[in-house]
Amino acid sequence: EATERGEHRHYMAKEIFEQPQAIADTLQGRLAGNRILPEIFGSQATEQLAEIEAVTIVACGTSFHAGLVARYWMEGVAGIPCQVEVASEYRYRSHVVPKQALFVTISQSGETADTLAALRLAKGAGYATTLAICNVPESSLVRESDLVFLTHAGPEIGVASTKAFTTQLVALFLLTITLGRLKRLDATEESRLVELLRSVPAKLEEVLALDATIAKLAEDFVDKQHTLFLGRGEQYPIAMEGALKLKEISYIHAEAYPAGELKHGPLALIDEQMPVVAVAPNNALLEKLKSNLEEVRARGGQLYVFADFQVALDEGEGITVVRLPETDDLIDPFVFTIPLQLLAYHVAVLKGTDVDQPRNLAKSVTVE
Ligand code: G6P
Repeated sequence: EATERGEHRHYMAKEIFEQPQAIADTLQGRLAGNRILPEIFGSQATEQLAEIEAVTIVACGTSFHAGLVARYWMEGVAGIPCQVEVASEYRYRSHVVPKQALFVTISQSGETADTLAALRLAKGAGYATTLAICNVPESSLVRESDLVFLTHAGPEIGVASTKAFTTQLVALFLLTITLGRLKRLDATEESRLVELLRSVPAKLEEVLALDATIAKLAEDFVDKQHTLFLGRGEQYPIAMEGALKLKEISYIHAEAYPAGELKHGPLALIDEQMPVVAVAPNNALLEKLKSNLEEVRARGGQLYVFADFQVALDEGEGITVVRLPETDDLIDPFVFTIPLQLLAYHVAVLKGTDVDQPRNLAKSVTVE
């Protein structure tokens, strides 16, 4: 086992550091130059996807967060209406199925009971076609879906999902471009987007180099009971994923809020005992996010901000800034995920929890 973990103390650390390779492996065989190969979603995919007018995504846990990021891409880039729901909710309510809709499940294991039940329900509900994004080729989800995209993350052992998540984002970005090409994206735009995707592994290597900085930062969280994560736009699901990682493995209560909702409740919780972690890429929402951060600071909250190099934010009393490489907004979700994974990991290590097998949780939840 120790040899499998290599230089790392835990599988989770190994899997965090494997992400650049896992993403490169997931792109392998899917691209020709700056074009996406036809039929990467299955041999019938081109005809089936050409009909698609709407997308419904269903998943659980971390996979659900990947779906939430994809909604911003689907609607913002491809111009296709997209809804995202947790499988345990989806399966127990009645739905209005949109016309010509694609039903997408996302799952590392392909065996999550709620996700599988949602797929079985959807198959009789009038969706045009079903697609599984999954990391396990022989899984039930893969066998039962019309179309399949396998993430090539390799085995993920740590219960808290890391490399499966970022490779799911790759799959969803490829799906966005593929559907977008059938709608409103031209070949030049496709090529720009594929180029962005190809740049992700190298960007992630740069972020992983912040490991020691983040390990130091983690010391501030060890004695805390709660942490609030803030993001806006496609960074809101990344904040949710950061909060999930922290609660799963360090047992610190963490929740994520879209920063604009701060004044509608969570601001009441802010004091010096409640650290606030914000993800702040240099995008159109930055000025708004900065004023949200001021609200936190004015109330004595300790702020930890992960920000692009371009973002004008000064460190000082109550505010720590960690700089990340500048990237295009569209691939910021990949870049900003990494420091939040590392933060959760180091806090858990300092607290001495069972990082790879947190209490009460299972890697794959195959019963309801
Ligand atoms: C469990 C795991 C999570 C995972 C979720 C969904 O809760 O602990 O890490 O995100 O199941 O699993 P799936 O295999 O469907 O992605």
